[in-house]
Amino acid sequence: MAVQVTNTADHTRPEPAGRTAYVNGRYVAHGDATVHIEDRGLQFADSIYEVCSVIGGRLMDEQGHLDRLERSVGALGINMPMERGALQVVMREMIRRNRLSNALLYLQVTRGTHKRDHPMPAFHKSTLIMTVRPFNIAAVEKRRAEGVAVITLPDIRWGRCDIKTTGLLANTMAKTEARKRGAFEAWMIDRDGNVTEGASTNAWIVTGEGVLVTRNLSSQILAGVTRLGVLNALAREGFNAIEERAFTLKEALAAREAFVTSASGGVLPVVSIDAQPVGEGRPGPITGRVHALYAQLSLAEAKA
Ligand code: PDD
Repeated sequence: MAVQVTNTADHTRPEPAGRTAYVNGRYVAHGDATVHIEDRGLQFADSIYEVCSVIGGRLMDEQGHLDRLERSVGALGINMPMERGALQVVMREMIRRNRLSNALLYLQVTRGTHKRDHPMPAFHKSTLIMTVRPFNIAAVEKRRAEGVAVITLPDIRWGRCDIKTTGLLANTMAKTEARKRGAFEAWMIDRDGNVTEGASTNAWIVTGEGVLVTRNLSSQILAGVTRLGVLNALAREGFNAIEERAFTLKEALAAREAFVTSASGGVLPVVSIDAQPVGEGRPGPITGRVHALYAQLSLAEAKA
C-alpha cells in the first residue's frame, strides 16, 4: 500500500505538466510520487526537511542548508540517505529536469518505513524525497516593496525548535491564524513575553539607536540559514551594531524598523505588528540596505 505524498486535496488544480519529483533514487512524475503508509515521517513526523531557493539556476546558501540538514539528522540519529556530494548532484538534477531557473527546492529525509512503534528502530533506511516548484519572485518583490503585517501568538511549540523537523502543526496553525487576520506572518511569544521567531521566518528589529536585534540561537528557535547569511553580510561590511538576544513585544512595537528572514523571502520588511505600525508604517532604509547586502553576498557565493 502506498499513499500519495505530493498531491493536494484540491483536485481542481492540476499539477503543472512535466513536474518531476524524486523519491528514493527515482525521478517520477510529481502526481505519481508516493511513500509507504508506514513511513515514520508520516506517522511520527520522524523526519527533517530543508527549503532552498534557486535564483537564476543557482542554489542560494547551499552549504548553509546542507550543514543544517546534517545537524538536524545528527540530532535525531537519522542516517543521511546519501553523502553530501551525491545529494548535491540530485538537487541539481531536480532543478534541471524541472526546467526552472527560479524555484523553491524542498527536500525531506525521514527515518523510513517500519511497523508502527514509538521507539526509534535500531536500524533504518532513510527515505529521501525532493520536489522543485516555481518561485514567484515578482510576488516576493511586491511584498518587499510594500512590507508585511505580523500578528503575535503564544509560542506553543515543543522544546527543540532548533531541529528542522516536519512536526510543524503549531507553525501551520499560527500561519493560518495570521492569514485569517490578513497578516503574512505570526511572531511567537514565549512565556517570558519575548519574541522567539516567526512561524516560518526569523524575527529582527532595529532599535531607535539603529541596533539590529535578533534572538540568540538556542533550542527555542531555528538557526535560519538566511539569518546567518545576513549576519555574515553585515560582518563583511564591518557593521557591528548587532545584538543577538531576546527582545520583548513592547520593544518590537517601539522599534524603528522590523523585518523577517527566510530562504523563500530573503529579508522582508515588517510594517505592522498586531495592527500597530512599526516606525513610520512602511519599509525602512536599514531593512532595504540589509536585504541588498545579503542578496549581493548570497548571489555572489551561489553556484549553478
Ligand atoms: N522556513 N524559523 C522557522 C520556524 C522556519 O520554518 C524557517 C524556515 C526560518 C527561516 O530559516 P531559513 O532562513 O533557513 O529559511 C525560521 C522554511 C522556509 C519553510 O518552512 O518553508
